Order: sequence, then C-alpha cells, then structure tokens
Amino acid sequence: MRVLGIETSCDETGVAVYDTERGLLAHALYSQVELHAEYGGVVPELASRDHVRKLLPLVRQTLAEAGLGVEDLDGVAYTAGPGLVGALMVGAAAGRALAWALDLPAVGVHHMEGHLLAPMLEDPGLKPPFVALLVSGGHTQLVEVAAIGAYRLLGETLDDAAGEAFDKTAKLMGLPYPGGPELARLAESGRPGLFKFSRPMTDRPGLDFSFSGLKTQVLLAWQASDQSPQTRADIARGFEDAVVETLAVKCERALKQTGARTLVVAGGVGANVRLRERLQALVAGPVGGPSGPKLFAKGFGPEGPPTGRVCFPRPAFCTDNGAMIAFVGALRLRAGQHEAPAVTVTPRWDM
Ligand code: KG4
Ligand code: ZN
Repeated sequence: MRVLGIETSCDETGVAVYDTERGLLAHALYSQVELHAEYGGVVPELASRDHVRKLLPLVRQTLAEAGLGVEDLDGVAYTAGPGLVGALMVGAAAGRALAWALDLPAVGVHHMEGHLLAPMLEDPGLKPPFVALLVSGGHTQLVEVAAIGAYRLLGETLDDAAGEAFDKTAKLMGLPYPGGPELARLAESGRPGLFKFSRPMTDRPGLDFSFSGLKTQVLLAWQASDQSPQTRADIARGFEDAVVETLAVKCERALKQTGARTLVVAGGVGANVRLRERLQALVAGPVGGPSGPKLFAKGFGPEGPPTGRVCFPRPAFCTDNGAMIAFVGALRLRAGQHEAPAVTVTPRWDM
C-alpha cells in the first residue's frame, strides 16, 4: 500500500510517499524559516499562505522522485492536529481533495504520533514496547508505548517545552531565529562547568519537567556577564548541559519504572548532538555513577548481549516532516481506519 503523507502543522511543508512493502519511497520538505525570521517567530497567517503556495509543487516533486503518478497511490494521510489551525487546514483540505478526486481513503494523523513513531521509519527492528521521549518546540513528554496505538503519558512539562526553552534562551542572548539549533551550535565552543544552571525537578520523584525557570537563570547570568562571544558560548554550554542532564535523569527513571529496554527519542530537540551522546551513554553505561548497577545488565553476564538501546530518527526526521505522517497514515489505513470525507482539524489534541 502506497500512502501520500502531508505535514503542514506549523512552518514546514512536508510531503512523502511510504510503501508498506518497500518503505519510504520519497520525501521532500520546504522550510519557511526565512519567511518568519524577521519576525522572530512563526506568523500563523504567513505560514498558511506559504503552505498554499508550496504544497502542490512539493506533491508533484515527491511523486516524480518516487517515479509514481497519482494513480499509483492507495491512500492519503495528512496532519489533522495539533498545530496552527490555518496551516493545518491547508494540508487537510489538499489531502481530502486529492483523496476525493482519486477515490482513495484518507486519514487525519496526530502530529505527535508521527514524531513518536518516526524512529520506526528506518529501523524495521524497532518494535514496541518502548519508552519515548518526545521533545519538540511545543511538547516535552515521556510516553510508554505498549503497542502501536497504546500510549500512556508518563510525564510532561508543566510549563515551557524543551525546544521552547532552547528558542527563548537563544533569543534573550540575541541569537537569530530559530534559536534552538543556533544555541546548540554555539554551545560546541562553550566551556563546560563555567556556568552551572539547575536541573529542574530532578531532586523530587516523578517524571514531569519544568523548563521556564532555566531561562530566567540564564537571563540573570547573561545580564551580569561581560556579554562577550566566548561568555555567550559558555552560557549556551551551561544551559544545554542543564537541559540534557535533566532529560537524561527522567529518561533513566522512566526506563526503570516501566522496565522497558528501549528508549526512543523524537521531536526537534532529538536532533541535539549532546542529548544523543548522553542518552547513548545512559543505556550503555552504569546507572548512578561508575559503581551503580547497569541499567540493562539484569539477566546477562558481563559479556552478555547489550540489551539496552536508544533509537533516534535521522535529524531530518526528528524535526517536522512528511515521512512520519505518511508512515503513521499507512499503518492506520492498512488497519482499515479512514474517515468520512470532511475537512476537519483539531488544533488542540491530546494523543
Ligand atoms: O519537532 P519540531 O521540528 O517542531 C515542533 O515543535 O513540532 O521541533 C522544533 C524545535 C524547536 O524548538 C528547535 O529549537 C528545536 O526543536 N531544535 C533543537 C535542535 N534542533 C531543533 N533544539 C536543540 N538542539 C538542536 N540541535
Ligand atoms: Zn513537530
């Protein structure tokens, strides 16, 4: 079954074709970053209009890259929420109209389920159960995935999302939009340990997060500093280390609590290199310091198979993309799920 996937929930127009036999056949992405840069954030109306301009050319391009015509498609999937209502409407209307014209089934996909299952796109060996860390600009959640469609929220942020914290912190130190990746790049030349920020909510039980206090700490440190380029990099490094360590502590807790052996990381912040390295070390290394027990060693001798693993999608599939929507849509359509031909979106939607 070949499914066309359409993603337009925010500021990226993403299109892909996923084949349930052969995997991902093609994908294309158009980012509106430059359009919104001068405003320092996404302008919803501009986003909708740009999706209108870019979506159909991207559909044509993706089909051409896959060597397919529209008549080769068996279904259409589009992001139905959560997201910006106007932006969602563009993808939903186009997806519905294509499906109607081609007499195909269509399904609206939850954007976060897309992120959640994106690591399965290129890793056929990855199967539930697993624990997923969803870290994007709008969400920070730990989710237990018992099976596809069976999701239990273990914890989430009480205020800012991790990506939002990256973006806001970058902005207050004068970095250009979009700040997250820029701040991460800067942190590479920052010296560790010079600025030490707190690891919010790690000193109490539970799996919830809170990142809004961190940016205030950074603001105070930045205002009191000499504001030189090296200091900015040092502060960026201190901030990144605090976020990464906080996420790692909660991931470790979630794995222990659920007994899951696989950790999956998805969402834009999953592109962060230091987070990837830290979580890799977490599943491979001893818990609670060098003398602590191995997280996944139970049942295996020192030479036994390393059973713990962490899976990340490639960076391009961590951030918003059409491939994850085509993939989830294909799973749902193959299971016989599709909806009546009406254009509806759900800008606020629990998974
Ligand atoms: O999943 P995503 O593309 O969009 C949604 O929010 O749904 O995530 C975007 C977020 C932004 O906040 C961005 O700053 C952050 O992911 N991000 C990063 C990195 N790349 C993207 N944060 C830290 N380090 C990165 N390398
Ligand atoms: Zn997203």
